[in-house]
Amino acid sequence: MAETSDIKIIISGGTGGIGAATARLLVAAGAKVMIGDLNDAAGATLVAELGENARFCHLDVTRPEDWEAIVAAAEEAFGGINALFNNAGISFFTGVVESTPEDFRKIMDINANGVFYGMHFAAPAIIRAGGGAIVNTSSTAGLQGYASLIGYTASKFAVRGMTKAAALDLARDNVRVCSIHPGPIATAMTEGMNEAALAGQPLPRFGKPEEVARLVRFLVTEATFSTGTEFVIDGGATVGMLAAVK
Ligand SMILES: NC(=O)c1ccc[n+]([C@@H]2O[C@H](COP(=O)([O-])OP(=O)(O)OC[C@H]3O[C@@H](n4cnc5c(N)ncnc54)[C@H](O)[C@@H]3O)[C@@H](O)[C@H]2O)c1
Repeated sequence: MAETSDIKIIISGGTGGIGAATARLLVAAGAKVMIGDLNDAAGATLVAELGENARFCHLDVTRPEDWEAIVAAAEEAFGGINALFNNAGISFFTGVVESTPEDFRKIMDINANGVFYGMHFAAPAIIRAGGGAIVNTSSTAGLQGYASLIGYTASKFAVRGMTKAAALDLARDNVRVCSIHPGPIATAMTEGMNEAALAGQPLPRFGKPEEVARLVRFLVTEATFSTGTEFVIDGGATVGMLAAVK
């Protein structure tokens, strides 16, 4: 089992809601975190807040050359990496008829291809360091279908599938690969969503980014007998819905 202070991790989309909460939690416990994101200004602010153990590197997850650069930067800064949190993602609402081919390509490029590139470029570095863990961000939309989320659902099922294939490829190299499946979490992605719409969810509220961060910390440190599998954090949403209680 790794202590949190042993963790040297790259977090994609690391300035957003879940990514930044994870960076804060890990750095507070002594981990070294390389934050990658499109948003350079937010990255500069976050590393100024977090201090020496946090670094920022511009990352567009759709660009393989950006992944090569962030892996090299993290190895250089921390003397190696033993974890990757593939967290960057986008969502938008379009159904199977309204979604244009361009919409579909775009969301697959960020949410699915970006996860593949991350694993492809970071896994050799994790192996060089003696092994570690990869956490890929799927969603409850990687477990069941949602109306008007054709591209998002496709991309998150792809993440769930790739996680299993990569877990098999990397098991003998001592690299565990798991997927996380959040339900509605209070971040920019769910802004404008009404909590009243969650009334039938067993735990009828938005999750907090910090709750997801704690799951990610568990997966990269303590979950030493888990690989290739799904970790659901959704307030019970995929278990079943209750009748709305007054
Ligand atoms: N919030 C939810 O309810 C929820 C539920 C299930 C899954 N998720 C997943 O969690 C992950 C994090 O989402 P969040 O809720 O923190 O959203 P967020 O919008 O707060 O953060 C997403 C981050 O990804 C970054 N990003 C977007 N495109 C990028 C690209 N091409 N390259 C690099 N970075 C890029 C954004 O700049 C942002 O910082 C996503 O993969 C999302 O699909 C979120």
